Amino acid sequence: MSRMEKTEGIIEARGLVKQFGDVTAVNNISLFVGKGELFGLLGPNGSGKTTMIKMLTGQLRPTSGSATVIGVDVVKDPVGVRERVGIIPEQETPPSFLTSVEYLDFVGEVRGIPDVQKKADWWFDFLEFSDKRDVLCKDLSRGTRQKLMFTQAFLHKPALALIDEPLINFDPIMQHKVKEYLTGYVKSGNTIFISTHILGIAEEICSGFAILHKGKLLHTGTVAGLKENNQHLDDFFLSLVRKDDHG
Ligand SMILES: Nc1ncnc2c1ncn2[C@@H]1O[C@H](COP(=O)(O)OP(=O)(O)O)[C@@H](O)[C@H]1O
Ligand SMILES: [Mg+2]
Repeated sequence: MSRMEKTEGIIEARGLVKQFGDVTAVNNISLFVGKGELFGLLGPNGSGKTTMIKMLTGQLRPTSGSATVIGVDVVKDPVGVRERVGIIPEQETPPSFLTSVEYLDFVGEVRGIPDVQKKADWWFDFLEFSDKRDVLCKDLSRGTRQKLMFTQAFLHKPALALIDEPLINFDPIMQHKVKEYLTGYVKSGNTIFISTHILGIAEEICSGFAILHKGKLLHTGTVAGLKENNQHLDDFFLSLVRKDDHG
């Protein structure tokens, strides 16, 4: 694995397992993500992407295995991990009883972010939802809630952001804007880890990727590597998953 030697590991997972009763949601996954990557965790619904992200962000304790994220052990110090990274959980919504701006103030307080008002204003402007700053979160559309979740994850400029299905509630114009932001964010030396079942997005913006199926890791590779072999991610993905289904 020459990639492992060349780059500094910002995510290193070793044999992660998560069991929910009889269901093995994540089955012995080892993963290495280097600094500066925009890494995509790909897989059909139910393949274990969300469970994986929850373990990597200290939200869910692995049944076995271990992982370090920005050098912090996710089992020994889950709070330390959450302090250092940005997280956008899947289908999470901001607190219903706060307005957009109150929520961002709250995040600023918890994370100890200086000049949070100024930073929040930049995001209201950039994601075009300044008109929603004083609206209660319960009255926001799904798309606007996603904008707010996006903002809270990047407000403190984390070295690593983990985003579960980043673009799912955005319209095409906003998707384009967010994709540009993400690719720019890694160019300045940060790292982004996204999960998605939308392969087109991964092919467009990701550097490295991993394919999960039924909790198992089927493949890790680079988008550049696929292109060199004239392969398309969707064909590659489908053939791997079908082979795994039919033996
Ligand atoms: N809290 C839970 N309790 C029981 N089963 C769960 C729980 N969370 C996830 N699972 C199961 O684990 C598997 C992987 O789920 P998930 O990580 O959400 O997949 P994905 O994000 O790829 O759609 C699924 O079979 C799902 O039903
Ligand atoms: Mg999921």
